[in-house]
Order: sequence, then C-alpha cells, then structure tokens
Amino acid sequence: MALAAEAKRVAAEFELTDDDVRKTVAEFVAEMDEGLAKDGGAMSQIPTYVTGVPNGTEKGLYLAVDLGGTNFRVCSIQLNGDTTFNLVQSKVPIPRELMVAETAKELFAFLAKQIETFLRAHHNDHFEKQLRRRQTVSTPEGYRDEHIFRLGFTFSFPVKQVGINRGNLIRWTKGFNIPDAVGKDVCQLLQTEIDLLKLPVKVAALVNDTVGTLMARSYTSPGKTSTLLGAIFGTGTNGAYVEKLSKITKPLHGDYDKTTGEMVVNTEWGSFDNRLKVLPNTEYDAQLDRDSVNPGIQMFEKRISGMFLGEILRIALVSMMKRPDVPLFRDENSSHNDYHSTTTINEASPLHTQWAVDSSILSIAEADNSVGLRALRQQIESLLGVSAASIEDALAVKEVAHAIAERAARLSGAAVAAIVIHTGRLNQGASSVPQPKSAAAIVEDLKNFHLAEAASATANKLADTAGIAVNEEEIVDIGVDGSLVEFYPGYEDYMRAAMRAVPEIGAAGERRIRIGIAKDGSGVGAALIALVAAKMEQSNDYVGDLRQRLESVGEASQEQVILEEK
Ligand code: GLC
Repeated sequence: MALAAEAKRVAAEFELTDDDVRKTVAEFVAEMDEGLAKDGGAMSQIPTYVTGVPNGTEKGLYLAVDLGGTNFRVCSIQLNGDTTFNLVQSKVPIPRELMVAETAKELFAFLAKQIETFLRAHHNDHFEKQLRRRQTVSTPEGYRDEHIFRLGFTFSFPVKQVGINRGNLIRWTKGFNIPDAVGKDVCQLLQTEIDLLKLPVKVAALVNDTVGTLMARSYTSPGKTSTLLGAIFGTGTNGAYVEKLSKITKPLHGDYDKTTGEMVVNTEWGSFDNRLKVLPNTEYDAQLDRDSVNPGIQMFEKRISGMFLGEILRIALVSMMKRPDVPLFRDENSSHNDYHSTTTINEASPLHTQWAVDSSILSIAEADNSVGLRALRQQIESLLGVSAASIEDALAVKEVAHAIAERAARLSGAAVAAIVIHTGRLNQGASSVPQPKSAAAIVEDLKNFHLAEAASATANKLADTAGIAVNEEEIVDIGVDGSLVEFYPGYEDYMRAAMRAVPEIGAAGERRIRIGIAKDGSGVGAALIALVAAKMEQSNDYVGDLRQRLESVGEASQEQVILEEK
C-alpha cells in the first residue's frame, strides 16, 4: 500500500495541467519571435536556406548520410518522381569513444570510411568506373562533375548555416562532445575526409534531421496540402517549419531563392526555456541536469526525448528505493511475491548507473495492461536488473513511467501547437463548412422546426464524430519521426489532448492537424535537398572552372584533357 501511494505521489509531480500547457505555448511563441529577430536567444531559429518544399515529382539518385543519434546511416535514394522512392541503407553504431574524441578528424574520417564501404557494397559498378576514369583523365578533377554523387548530409546538431552546404557547429547535444569541432564547417570536415579517400562524392547539402523530415513528408504526404512542420521525438527533440521570409528579421548571409517568399527555419526547440520560466522542474529533472555534460542547456529536450526519459525514471525510482518506508524492489521474503522468489536488485543493475536505463522500458510499461504485468516484469529484469519483481513493483514502475511520458507528450503537443499558432496556418483555408453544432442547439432547432438546419447540423456532427469532416484544404500537415512518437503507445493522443487545451486551437483546430510518420525522413529529405542544391549549382560550373584553370596552366596541357560529352 505504501508503495502504491508513493508511486502516486511521485507521478503527481510530473503532472502538466492544461494551464501549464497554455503558459508553455505562450512562452514558446514569444521565444520563436525572439529567435527570428536576433541570434543568441534560447531558441536558435536557424535559417536553413531551403526556400521551398517538394511536391513529389522530384527524380534522381542521391546519397545521404545521417549523423545525430546512436547510429550513423549511409543510404542511397532513388526518387521516382511519383511520391515514391527506393532506399538502400546501411547503419553502424557510432563508437562511444568517437562521440567524445579528441579531434573532429577522428570522427569524420570514420564517417568517410563508412561511405566508402557503402559505395563498394551497393554501387560498386559506379564506383569502379569512377576510379578507372580518374586514372585515365589528367585533369585535376579527374572526371566530369555530373558523375559525382551528390550527398545530403543530415547532421542533427545545432549548426549556424551560412549556405546550403556550409555550416558551423554551434554546440554538441545528445551526449556528443568534441570541442575541437565547435565553430568549424562540418561539411568541409566531411568533404576533406571524403577527398582523402578519393571518393566520387560531393557534400551538396547540409540538413538537420527535422528539415529532412519536413521535406520527406512533403514529398510523400497525401493530397496537395504542403507540410508545415517536421518534428523529431526520438533520441533528441526538435522541429523545423516553413516561415515567411518577411518574419525572419535577423540578417541572412548566404545566397537563397527569394521568389518563394518562404524559408524553412530549424527552431532547435530542444533549448526552449533554458531559463525555466515556465517548464516544470521536479527534483529528478534538476538532478539529471546537474549531472549532465551540458547543465542549463537543452532543458526542453531533457524533459521530452528518449535520451533522457529513461534517466528521469531511473532517478525517480532510485529516490523511491532510498526511502525506508517504501518497499520498492524489496520483498521481505519470498511469500510476498507471486513468483515465490525473493526480489533481488543485481549488483550490476542499470539502476545504479547514470544513463544506463533504456527509455524503451517506458513504452513497454505503457503497453503492458495484463493482470500480472508479465511483459513489464521481464523487462524490469532485463532492463533494470531486478529479478523476481512483484506485481506491486511493476505497477509502481508503470505509474511513474506513464507520468514521465505523458508529460513529455503534452510538452511535445505544446511545441506543435505553438508552431501552428505562430504561423497562423489555422486561419488559412478556413472553411465554409459549418462547425458542428452542440446537441442542445440541434434539439432547439428541432423544437422550432428548423428541420433543414437541424438535419445539416446532425450530418455534420456525425461526420465529425467519424473524423471525416475536415476538407483537404483545411488540413495542417505535420511530419514526425523518432522512437517516442513511433513506439510509445498513445503518444500522439496525449499530444493532441494538450493541443485541444489551447484556446487558439481547441477541438476544432486540433482535428485539422494531420500528423504522419515520415519514416526514414532524414535520408529521403537529405536526398531532396541535395537535389535542390544540385539544381542551384551552375550547370556549366565544371566547364567554366576548368577553362579558368587551363588558362592559368597554358595551352600545352589542354591536349591532355579529355572532355567527356554528356
Ligand atoms: C537535438 C539537436 C537537433 C536535432 C534533435 C533531434 O536537439 O540539437 O539539431 O534536430 O536533437 O535529433
């Protein structure tokens, strides 16, 4: 009993009320404005120089790499031009020592090596052809520019972008820490290592995973509605959205296409409210932050994303275990336990080690609604290192885990709500379709014999209940990716409940928000931006560049040059 009550008490500390959501949204909108006006605010609001979103007709073969979580992914993407694509990919875990390497070179050389391995495995023909060409051609480039793979580099950390393939690292997040790389152009770091391996690859575009998700969703999403926001709820959390150029009042330094009047902005919302003006701050949050590599930074992310939720749970459970009156994971004798065995916390239990509890246990706890909570208890054994946990133990873990995740989802909903409100998207395409009438109003109509009115209102209400009342033009489309939103049961529902609590959105607005998973968004999105970048390159770049070089080396060398025709 004491355990159940304690679990309830701890869970209550994570409650985020509707009022908290509203305050969060208001502050979020204000910080978005601040970030658009000047650098140095909590939310970086980074202009990406991407000025349009795709419509599904784009075509071509591109490479993409993705660095930003636990794995490094290399893929090639064939865009078919009909909203579909084919993707081949390989994934390797990033060795922990490289995440905190002495020099940037160590990490980037490893990445280039993976690209080489991928090309040899999946595009060997093309690769070998390039090598032969390189040997037969005596220009410094060795071969024509168009035979080089264009690569979109998804680099999911805050970067000050100064062009479509140029950007300097602002700071590391998510457990990476290589101070040597801060301030450097990450595309150049990668290109240097690619060139050392003589790979036929040009880093054409630098992409945050949220921007990739936005692009991928826009390419694949049904109907003609363009996507407003790409958001990640995974190891980290962040969002990128389509902003009016006129609202980006801080200076833009790079070249970009001004004709669309829009630009994708990477919010870096992980650092929303670092000052903790509105965010909840339990003792568990405070301890996590104090003991992290970046105290005071990424405060929103530390309450939402997969990298941190397992650790919050660990800290909360350990604090409960420390209380002598709370029998968590502590059966006095085996008779208290339906497994008829004494509960034991293993010596090497992840509960004793910072960052050792995998966030997947939160999803498992939520999903297990069986009477004996067998699945959860199994995971308590494998992920928490506690054998023969009792049903009461599992119930306590479930209650606390649920509260942590629901708070995360509601905060995520607040972020989405803020973007929707800030961009005014709900005011665009607002329909002439009447909003459903209340049951009382329909009864009133019937009483007064306004039968036609009553019939149409009833039909509208029925359609609404069935979820089909929203016209295509009214939809606000959002692409999401990441383990939390994909695997945590009901994550989207909790997000939506929070959105409904915000008056500017309400139930009617929330229904118009369509959220779709953009699986592998960062790969496809990076390919799409590489395509845009390739188009932006002057088509005669290579030849023009070559002529200039020839002029400087003299006539004689011209004879050696083999200019391949397309
Ligand atoms: C972190 C990074 C951000 C990225 C997000 C999701 O917040 O700073 O750039 O988009 O994680 O991976």
